[in-house]
Amino acid sequence: MTESPTKLLIKNIRELLCVVPDGETAPKLLQGAALHKMTVLEDAWLAVEDGKISDFGSMYDLHGITDWSSLKVIDAEGKVVMPAWCDSHTHLVFAGSREGEFVDRIRGLSYEDIAAKGGGILNSARKLQDTPEEVLFESALARLNAVAQLGTGAIEIKSGYGLTPEAELKMLRVVRRLREHSPVTIKATFLGAHAFPERFKSVPQAYVEQIVHEMLPQVAEEGLAEYMDVFCERGYFSNNQTDQLLEASNQYGLRPKIHVNQFSISGGIEVAVRHNALSVDHLEVVGDADIEALRGSGTMATLLPSCSFFINIPYAPARQLIDAGLPVALASDYNPGSTPSGNMPLVVAMGCIKLRMTPAEAIQAATLNGAYAMDLSDELGSIAVGKKANLIITQPIPSHEFLPYAFGSNLIEQVILNGQLI
Ligand code: NIG
Ligand code: FE
Repeated sequence: MTESPTKLLIKNIRELLCVVPDGETAPKLLQGAALHKMTVLEDAWLAVEDGKISDFGSMYDLHGITDWSSLKVIDAEGKVVMPAWCDSHTHLVFAGSREGEFVDRIRGLSYEDIAAKGGGILNSARKLQDTPEEVLFESALARLNAVAQLGTGAIEIKSGYGLTPEAELKMLRVVRRLREHSPVTIKATFLGAHAFPERFKSVPQAYVEQIVHEMLPQVAEEGLAEYMDVFCERGYFSNNQTDQLLEASNQYGLRPKIHVNQFSISGGIEVAVRHNALSVDHLEVVGDADIEALRGSGTMATLLPSCSFFINIPYAPARQLIDAGLPVALASDYNPGSTPSGNMPLVVAMGCIKLRMTPAEAIQAATLNGAYAMDLSDELGSIAVGKKANLIITQPIPSHEFLPYAFGSNLIEQVILNGQLI
């Protein structure tokens, strides 16, 4: 991180995105038709003081700056300035890689076939259990720095490759250390219920009991996670087990955020909503009852298009969800098995290309709605006075629509986190 003065002025901005207009209260999330309504200020300036957005406006009316001393000025001529990405679903802490499974899928096996032969999550768990905390920390920090350069300013990170009390806590302690060493805002999720370890295969309920009675109390006691996740899916955790796990997580003050409807329509969304889940994630398959369960619930539908791309499964029906009036977030799902990439510009492009979201919808789903899915929308995700100055400055581009259009190109030129250039 390079030190810069506490005051910053970005001037001549071609388009300032996700602006909360003067006098309006900043929304916590955007749903249905509102997701497409993005306020864009053209030919704009934005001022930052003490790490926060202190003012912004049109260049013809640059009145907000009264004290020009020790002010760093960035000329954003021809560039887009927008809130940094809020990536609300990742498994960024992991050991090793799984390119062998990638090749197996090319040869015709499915993600579920590979898991059934002891690959998949259990493959990563074996690797992680044998990896020292220090090594996990260094590799995770390198990944975090790399995604920050692509504009990620806030991120949720899950455990779930430990699957023993020791290894799950080891992962969450790595997340705690990342927080101390990175300018990225981080939220932690306990995902002990990611898969059944080999030794519990014949007694799965005993693993659920271990999570509830052994792991969860320790995670809560050490304050290691804000949320609890469960992989609710055929072959993983049933609706009844999910129900029991989420009941317990709420008792310990860990709000649910779950993996559900990745391969099958299970009724798990209804279970999650009943337990006041902050988000339900994946949703590659969705039924009418799922949509009804989500309506008015305050639960964010988080979609992960780069996972669908990588393991060749259907894409979530974003249009159906948005057109039903629901809120939708986009996240990366960065993990070694189903999505070995944390590239949010690519996620946004896939949101447009494969999920048929408009650029405005995809950008707001990856900023404000992602912030909501981490309880951060009061401080992040849009351009409003008083919000944290987590900002992306692009290369010169004709418009924000050019960002997803030019998919695969890195158009992120500068990233500012907490008011500092990184
Ligand atoms: O979100 N579906 C469950 N969990 C991860 C994949 C985990 C893995 O394959 O390592 C996901 O896709
Ligand atoms: Fe995931």
